[in-house]
Amino acid sequence: MFDPDDLSTNPSAGPAFPDLLAVDAGRRRLLGTALGAAALAFLGRVPVARAASFDAAPGFESVPVAADDAVHVPPGYSAQLLFAWGDPVSDGPAFSPDASQSAEVQALQAGMHHDGMHYFPLPARKGDRARGLLAINHEYTDDGLLHPDGMKTWTAAKVRKAQAAHGVSVIEVRQRADHGWEVVRPSRYGRRITAYTPMRIAGPAAGHARMRTAADPEGRLALGTLNNCANGHTPWGTYLTCEENIQAYFVHASPAPADLARYGITERGFGYRWHEFDERFDVRRHPNEVNRFGWVVEIDPFDPASVPVKRTALGRFSHESATHAVASDGRIVVYMGDDQRNEYLYKFVSRDPYDPQQPERTRDLLDHGTLYVARFEAGGSGQWIALVHGENGLTADHGFGSQAEVLIRTRQAGDRVGATMMDRPEWIAVHPVTGEVYCTLTNNNRRGGATANAADGTTPLAGAQPPVDGANPRANNAFGHIVRWREAGGDAAATSFEWDVFVQCGDPALADAAKRGDIRGDAFGNPDGLAFDAYGRLWIATDISPTSLNKGDFAGLGNNALLCADPVSGEVRRFLTGPRGSEITGPCFSPDGRTLFVNIQHPGENPGERNDPDRPKAISAWPDGAAGSRPRSATLAIRRTDGGVVGT
Ligand code: FEO
Ligand code: CA
Ligand code: CA
Repeated sequence: MFDPDDLSTNPSAGPAFPDLLAVDAGRRRLLGTALGAAALAFLGRVPVARAASFDAAPGFESVPVAADDAVHVPPGYSAQLLFAWGDPVSDGPAFSPDASQSAEVQALQAGMHHDGMHYFPLPARKGDRARGLLAINHEYTDDGLLHPDGMKTWTAAKVRKAQAAHGVSVIEVRQRADHGWEVVRPSRYGRRITAYTPMRIAGPAAGHARMRTAADPEGRLALGTLNNCANGHTPWGTYLTCEENIQAYFVHASPAPADLARYGITERGFGYRWHEFDERFDVRRHPNEVNRFGWVVEIDPFDPASVPVKRTALGRFSHESATHAVASDGRIVVYMGDDQRNEYLYKFVSRDPYDPQQPERTRDLLDHGTLYVARFEAGGSGQWIALVHGENGLTADHGFGSQAEVLIRTRQAGDRVGATMMDRPEWIAVHPVTGEVYCTLTNNNRRGGATANAADGTTPLAGAQPPVDGANPRANNAFGHIVRWREAGGDAAATSFEWDVFVQCGDPALADAAKRGDIRGDAFGNPDGLAFDAYGRLWIATDISPTSLNKGDFAGLGNNALLCADPVSGEVRRFLTGPRGSEITGPCFSPDGRTLFVNIQHPGENPGERNDPDRPKAISAWPDGAAGSRPRSATLAIRRTDGGVVGT
């Protein structure tokens, strides 16, 4: 069977189970068990708590809480810097430490603020242990660091450069015979997708009147992708990048109409000031441009000339995570969260099954299917409610004249059907054997009142303050929690599920019992990134906001961290701590499980104004280290120094 030294893998091969094959030869007996369990799982998936033979215990020594400006990993591991903001994706110019590179050069280099990420294997070449592509999101920019004088002046060229620092990088990486990783330069795959890359709009909302603009009267060709936070990938080898906080970029005079307010559009956005030089971000001048953002975008990383596609069938909201599962009949299910306070959890179920023998049929698989929103009932049951035009009150009488309008106004559709308001859903991970689904709920300071989102869609974003409920059990949920569910019959396409709370985060040293949580093991807060490895260990990346890091209730948790949990025992161990001001995100694995790729996002982020180039530098000089150097987001490759499987 599989030769662990031959790491070449068909890039278009299927999803989780081929990954299970690519593991340490010394664990084949376990794998036999795991694959047996996988086969069982297809017939009827079992709760992880009953998958007793599955060895998911973290097997490393915890790293302590840290507050210094460094990355720490357990003894016996190394963390290698691979790809930082400003590094070329192919053979373009190198990083300019004074941030003097032009927009055109920035568009050939790593963007800012790396986030979600996925590794796609390529056949290894002679002399390499492995080769693959990394698709990496660049969520947003810190304009204080992006330009030599920050935002002290503001010009069209700076807006263009900020747009060039957004989007996605695709880089080719190789693992040398000595096990170290490097970016391949030049590479025919090296590519940047930015906030002005042309992309096709597909699915039910394509061409709708509300998607048409003066520049695109057909409503089928958008420019760019924005605020690419979490991600997903498909069994057919494409990358899914998720547009999250679109309200950061668009502005409208106050008060904005209800449909804009529901999506958080305000007079100022997050202060990006793009509208001053790119009028498509001024909603008063171009009222429909905003409808062309807030989607999941599918990218073929293997074809650098491919046009990214906005898949409108997956709904429009602050997308965080697009994690797939395969239903019993082969249909593709994509789980997605809307990361805002008191927003909803969704899943899309494709109309057609995925057939690896007919890859051409997968081209538009994500354009046809049903979008569902979750209702978590008291007592541990739950329902997926279809967001289908004409059903469940989604009719013209309520502002939904077509399926396109259901999708453009996904939040209002969720309001109408009475979906459960959640504590900011972030990443979603599907257990590779049992099919159990885990979702981080990062925090919610608007939980514990009596105000729900109005059914008529008129509650502005973050205007609700609902009571606690079973799935969101804490008022003013400062530390967050992780919820998990099991689909009925073990079928990802089921319309009902059973749920429980996997862990409530917190610090057991705190006096307030409500903030201590119930973690078995190392304390953490604000879970965000989430990924299973092939052994069923759950990796949790934290995003305590820079305003809270190492202060107040969060003083005992230190810098943001990556932790590893055993879903069976609940044991949690801290695996990595990041530099000052950073968030940890993007965890994903090489197919052999021996390299963990992680992103360090926004080291040095300062809680004050974004336009000051000096404040971040006073907090962090990571990774370059020299005093006064600009901190840079970066991708790390983490390995065991003995070459073994990470986490064991
Ligand atoms: Fe961009 Fe929801 O984190
Ligand atoms: Ca996130
Ligand atoms: Ca977050």
